[in-house]
Amino acid sequence: MTTTSLSRTARRRWWWASWGLTAVLAIGIAGYAVPPYLSGNPEASNVPVNPDVALHYLTLAVHALPGGLALIIGPFQFVSRLRARSPRLHRLLGRIYLISVVVAAVASLFAATFSLSGFSIRVAFYILAVAWLYTAAKAYRTIRRGEVALHRVWMIRNYALTFAAVTLRIYLITGLAVKSSFPGLEFEAIYDASGWASILVNVLVAEYFIVQRTLAPLARTRRSTKDSAPVPGENLVGTASPGV
Ligand code: HEM
Repeated sequence: MTTTSLSRTARRRWWWASWGLTAVLAIGIAGYAVPPYLSGNPEASNVPVNPDVALHYLTLAVHALPGGLALIIGPFQFVSRLRARSPRLHRLLGRIYLISVVVAAVASLFAATFSLSGFSIRVAFYILAVAWLYTAAKAYRTIRRGEVALHRVWMIRNYALTFAAVTLRIYLITGLAVKSSFPGLEFEAIYDASGWASILVNVLVAEYFIVQRTLAPLARTRRSTKDSAPVPGENLVGTASPGV
């Protein structure tokens, strides 16, 4: 086995390990967080329901159900073998995913407005919802124009934001577990820090993936074919889809 094929195998293994962890966490968090909003009973809600707003629980339910669906569908859309084997299924799931994101994001704007949580976390939710809608719109527009590689970039960004629902809860659970070691640490501070950290870290990880798995292979191909000087973004509108 050559060094190149060895590193290809290692990269594939690493990709599948990350994919597996992402899928398991996405399904796990959707399975844990969404059911309280299927019952129709506001008392089952994990966040306090605003007693002055009759629609608050409904907005949480309309947010959580499609949010959970997007969380579960997302990882499967990144598997190139599935895309190649059944492009129609990829398109169908892609449409369901994007519609789910739009519905969940709009409902989350209401849920944030009615929320009894603090100002800082609500600002984080507003920013997250707007970025969620923007990246979904870009992902849709690029694929309608046939810009496959750019579509992939925007979908990585969009799913990283969807996945903030997972990392938020991981940070929150961790924060609550260590709370007793930090006297004076309030729940609200842990919630705020978890919300902001989930956005920041996920965005950084997504950008790392975009550079390493999408831009770097394009640059390598260009170098190996000894093409003329690269034009920034030129290859991103092509149909090349590097990665597993
Ligand atoms: C990424 C964009 C998202 C935004 C902007 C967002 C926003 C919000 C907001 C504002 C609330 C109310 C929180 C409060 O009152 O303190 C909330 C709660 C909730 N969200 Fe999201 N969310 C997002 C993604 C998701 C996803 C992908 C899921 C999928 C599971 C999800 C599931 C839930 C659930 C179940 C609740 C109720 C609180 C709980 O039971 O933990 N959210 N979200």
